[in-house]
Amino acid sequence: IFKAQLPFRRFCSSKALMGKFHNSLSFDKRLWDVDIRGSEAFAKELHRSGLLSQREEGELLVGLNSVRKEWENDSFVMLDSDEDIHMANERRLIELIGDSGRKLHTGRSRNDQVATDLRLWCRQSSSEARSKLQILIRSIVNRANSHLSVLMPGYTHLQRAQPIRFSHWILSYAFALQRDCERLEQISERINVLPLGSGALAGNAFKIDRDAIAKDLGFSSVSSNSMDATSDRDFIAELLFFCTLTMTHLSRFAEDLIIYSTKEFGYVSIPEPFSTGSSLMPQKRNPDSLELIRGKSGRIFGNLSGFLMTMKGLPSCYNKDLQEDKEPLFDSMSSILTILEIFTLVIDSFEINEAQMRNALHEEMLATDVAFYLVRRNIPFRTAHGISRQCVDLAESKGCLLSELSLQQFQEIDKTFDADIFSVFDFENAVEQYDVVGGTAKKSVEHQIKSLQDWLDRE
Ligand code: ARG
Repeated sequence: IFKAQLPFRRFCSSKALMGKFHNSLSFDKRLWDVDIRGSEAFAKELHRSGLLSQREEGELLVGLNSVRKEWENDSFVMLDSDEDIHMANERRLIELIGDSGRKLHTGRSRNDQVATDLRLWCRQSSSEARSKLQILIRSIVNRANSHLSVLMPGYTHLQRAQPIRFSHWILSYAFALQRDCERLEQISERINVLPLGSGALAGNAFKIDRDAIAKDLGFSSVSSNSMDATSDRDFIAELLFFCTLTMTHLSRFAEDLIIYSTKEFGYVSIPEPFSTGSSLMPQKRNPDSLELIRGKSGRIFGNLSGFLMTMKGLPSCYNKDLQEDKEPLFDSMSSILTILEIFTLVIDSFEINEAQMRNALHEEMLATDVAFYLVRRNIPFRTAHGISRQCVDLAESKGCLLSELSLQQFQEIDKTFDADIFSVFDFENAVEQYDVVGGTAKKSVEHQIKSLQDWLDRE
């Protein structure tokens, strides 16, 4: 057997380098409070199941509270030797209260501890995300409600398609965000399962009552398999997916607003501080806030795909790779919390230019309605579509609007046309035809507003 051995100096420097390499305190210190909360619940259960005396339990709880106070008033001193938040809190506890502190980790492993802490953290931050999302949705609904009469072009392929209500457009994003909110609620149910009591992988040998810990920490159930519980990070993948999909919606929303705020469109303007001037060109207003939101959606998607890559090759139970769950999680969640706030402010403050939207409504967008007019006179739709196409072509060749064709010209194309064809060329009437549930007619849009308001009031 050949044993390679580093000379002492190199061993020491390697040890220091490795210490830095696997240290997670710089980013997992934000778990300090959930870590203490989990330890308190565990200490209480150790006492209930006879592993700690009343005095020891008391000392632990007082000690944990002192550690909490140190974090709160920023006096907690982190040491280079503290590998992560769990080691740091326990090290400090033992310094403060001595031997009974050494009993806290009885039957516990950092594997069930970190899983518990993370679930507590995710539960808290997803509830924040949910309420911020709802605030954003309410702002969208309010904007929709205040501009019900405003008409604008609706686009497919970014080509002018049909006239719609401005409110219909903006509400389309509210419904996507409502689904995100519901998704988050479902994820929260799966987050809220207690892993503590799973030990390193095999469970707990001291007959602790896991249900009692769950109750104390507000978990709705306990995990069913200790090997699964210590290696399950599905809840993190799901939260990262929630962030990614929500950001996809916000990014598309931002993109619409960016396009609509160009001088070429001029439908909206993004006020300061959400847009900024150019350092060179005095006339410019750049929608930085929206561009950053669109840009950050890429990184947030990257956090999800990177994390799934980390997970996919792991053998069962805990592996140190799992420590790589934290940075993407913290980054995505804290980004989305800020983004939701910024987006809400943009929605509350962007200005709309009603006249500009009206001016962009071109009569060719009513060609479909010419076909619908014929359908209502019993012409099969495919035929009506062809006839309407001929009318559009004729107007184009004459360089005039559809409504500027004479009745005779219409009738030369098809004798079904009557004098009332001219009532088709009214954008308000056009929009009001779409009065099904989900349509862009006023009453359909009011129905959408009501359904979102009712949902928000129930939440
Ligand atoms: N810092 C570790 C993590 O975040 C805690 C768990 C470490 N467990 C272990 N057996 N090394 O994943």
